[in-house]
Amino acid sequence: MAVDTAAGSLVVTRDRDNCLHAFVNACRHRGARLVEDVGACRGIVCPYHAWTYNLDGSLRAAPGMGGVLDFDPREQGLIPVRLAEWGGFLFACFDPETPALETWLGDLPERMAAHRPDDLRCVRRMPFDVAANWKFLIGNALEAYHTGSVHRDSLGAQQAEAESTRGQWDALYVHGEDDKSISTLPGGIQPLPFIEGLSARARSGTWFTVIYPCTQIVFSPDCAWWLDFQPLAADCTRLVLGACFPRSSIELADFRERAEPYFQRWSEATPEDNAIAEAQQRGHGSGRLPAGRYALSEQCVHRLDNWVLDRVLGTQAPSHAAAGSV
Ligand code: FES
Ligand SMILES: [Fe+2]
Repeated sequence: MAVDTAAGSLVVTRDRDNCLHAFVNACRHRGARLVEDVGACRGIVCPYHAWTYNLDGSLRAAPGMGGVLDFDPREQGLIPVRLAEWGGFLFACFDPETPALETWLGDLPERMAAHRPDDLRCVRRMPFDVAANWKFLIGNALEAYHTGSVHRDSLGAQQAEAESTRGQWDALYVHGEDDKSISTLPGGIQPLPFIEGLSARARSGTWFTVIYPCTQIVFSPDCAWWLDFQPLAADCTRLVLGACFPRSSIELADFRERAEPYFQRWSEATPEDNAIAEAQQRGHGSGRLPAGRYALSEQCVHRLDNWVLDRVLGTQAPSHAAAGSV
């Protein structure tokens, strides 16, 4: 699978032994891009001069390279990129200095363990192109202050509180009702069963988590959805929403119909958020704005902005949780 990111392009493979790998998506010969898409194959053949790599990245064949001085095929494998897995999600990292995923995620895995992320299956991906900086989109995802206005005709006003976290993530807990999740539009019946074994708090609310800097996973009592915010330029972001349901729900004979209200919610509310982020981008276009004030309900946005600032200015604290209050 080819994965294009702001930091560069990756190819992610699963080899014959079921091991996952990530590599720089470029040939070791003269650097041609290797993989364009997703699929199954026995090896990767460079489109330029047909060097061939195994799925573990080792070079299998380099036609016409016989007799080249000091050419050792064992030294010509694809360039590996760090890859780690949690809950069925893969995280790649180009930076050797970044702490291990386990450290980065802090207490997120244990806090969301009851939702059994490993048991969730992604059934649909919904892409959106947004003419706004990625930080406007993430900031929007970290407060419910806007819901009564931006989502007036869809979700309506929501009540939420900022969570306290350990690690490079943050979360907003949005209150629902005891027997109805906020994964579908208000009113109507609860379409799919809740995940078994959730605490009372998990049953009556939804966590909008953000794994810094630009990954959101929303844990609801009946499903989860992830938002991959891919910065393309300062004023342009590709957003991909992935819809995940527990296996037991997907196996229901009428799952397709029962999942419809969820897709309706995502296809109504997501463009509303995208449009307001675009308005915010246009508003900033003049470059003449002094800094604005945050409401108390925008704590998580403030923490995100400080997280970014710390990295821009090189003043980062070990984690925002340790840095404490706003
Ligand atoms: S650039 Fe890949 S084989 Fe030449
Ligand atoms: Fe929103």
